[in-house]
Amino acid sequence: MCGIIASIFKNQAVLPFLLEGLKKEEYRGYDSCGVAIIEPHKIHIQKEIGRIEKLKEHLFTSSSKVGIGHTRWATHGKNNLNNAHPHISNKGLFCLVHNGTIYNYQEIKEDLLNKGYLFYSQTDTECIVNLLEHFYLQCGDILSSLNELDKTLKGTYVLCILFKEENRIYFLKKSTPLMLGKSKNGLHLSSDMRALELATDYLDIEDNEYGFIDENHYEIYKAQKRIEKKLYKIQKEKEDTNQVIPSFYMEKEIHEIPMVIDRIIKHYQNDFDIKIKEVIKKANNLIFVGSGTSYHAALRGSLYFENKNVQVILASEFDLNSIKNDNALYIFLSQSGETLDVLKVLEKVSHYDTLGISNVANSSLLRKCKYALEMKAKEEVAVASTKAYVAEVLLLYLLAKGINQNTLQNLKDIQQEIKDHLLHQEKILSIAESIKNKENAYFLAKGKDIYLCKEASLKLKEVTYIHSECLFAGELKHGPIALLEKDFPIFFITSLKNKENLNSAIEEVTAREGIPYIFTYDEHNPLGYLPLITDFFLLSFHLAKMRKKDVDKPRNLAKSVTVD
Ligand code: AGP
Repeated sequence: MCGIIASIFKNQAVLPFLLEGLKKEEYRGYDSCGVAIIEPHKIHIQKEIGRIEKLKEHLFTSSSKVGIGHTRWATHGKNNLNNAHPHISNKGLFCLVHNGTIYNYQEIKEDLLNKGYLFYSQTDTECIVNLLEHFYLQCGDILSSLNELDKTLKGTYVLCILFKEENRIYFLKKSTPLMLGKSKNGLHLSSDMRALELATDYLDIEDNEYGFIDENHYEIYKAQKRIEKKLYKIQKEKEDTNQVIPSFYMEKEIHEIPMVIDRIIKHYQNDFDIKIKEVIKKANNLIFVGSGTSYHAALRGSLYFENKNVQVILASEFDLNSIKNDNALYIFLSQSGETLDVLKVLEKVSHYDTLGISNVANSSLLRKCKYALEMKAKEEVAVASTKAYVAEVLLLYLLAKGINQNTLQNLKDIQQEIKDHLLHQEKILSIAESIKNKENAYFLAKGKDIYLCKEASLKLKEVTYIHSECLFAGELKHGPIALLEKDFPIFFITSLKNKENLNSAIEEVTAREGIPYIFTYDEHNPLGYLPLITDFFLLSFHLAKMRKKDVDKPRNLAKSVTVD
């Protein structure tokens, strides 16, 4: 799950652009990073453990116009320099960066070891670069070697490749996204549209396509046949020129929730596209798909579709054989629109009606779904998703209930309540202060409130590293109560109306000297629970800060999970 950037410029050095691109892709993984450039008859590589800033500090200088870069989220092998990308082949002919996972790499490695190849890393990627070199030394042709490689590799892979003797960048793609961009300065490849900032035009490289870019042209092949593909204009949103880098993006993004509500109202007040309205109206069966926070938003938001048959499926657990209704509308939720688990489901059901909901206009999800809706939450940088959760739930609410005076008024009312919660954080701060040294917490609820608990609990563990679990309140006594001890924090979430249903669980907690924190909301407004989730986002943020954790980039995580 990594970010890839590759560029060939006509008249300027490539290194600064690679670093800029990698910064934008850091959300895909930040265990290590690296770049490689072509210098006459030589490939020059530099890698670093940790962030791009560190690589920048120690980077060599070069006027080379051809280079590739990578930011890594470790899958195969520890996070060390040997395992960082780019990887170079034994004879130094090829150097490449890879995003994806090779399932048959052990087999390939054994075969190459028998042929005398040596391995210096524990990665699957090093097998690819050596296999490519092996094919090339047999046939003397890079494009045929790429075709061979594509036939041999099993798994997911985007590769950008340098060959020592040419000012070209070769590529090969299977299952994870790769875009080719054209700018007035040259040609670029990237796993992510954000990193193609210079580009004015782009095209998607599809599965099993390979080819190369040079400074002003590109060639694309599939199974040894050249294919012509046209470029599309990139639609760009106007840049916000007043951007100040905040101390914590997570905090900034939580505070942007009222603004997100404004943006949604403004953007959708004249109603959704008629085609989207029709496809929802005619569908009796809705299948929601998402991961992590987006899955939690789907769980809560799908409840608004009261008169439809609804299934909410975790993308990573999707099994087409278990889908009972053949005739369904698939609704995909993904902040980034690049989550591989989600895209893989989309691939399997692309012959059905599909609606993508994402925060990134040019994301793979929105490009590939038949119908597309933008969340309008503006870029979310912190790895922990906050404002996008709210946008996802609101869009599902509006899709289900329609856009009318009443629903828009509910959004405005809830916006006001959220503003109040953001202004008065004293209570949240004092809870954070009192539990900042705890290592465990439970979130308890009954019925549909469990969906809020799931999100609150995920957020807490994600940024504070406090172990937390989300439980149905009635289940506490059936086992989890064993962990209770003095001052164990337990968060209860309930609507005011159902508060007394939690009484016995609260008693069980106090009897064991645990501390119950009871959060209630008013169901008068169908969105009434959103101010509470804002409180829990704030609680996680303050705790992470008090515990001196990396709030915006928690360990082991990435903003967009592009491996399966
Ligand atoms: C949220 O805080 C998490 N970082 C994570 O669960 C995330 O929601 C999940 O990976 C799905 O991402 P997506 O919405 O971009 O598809």
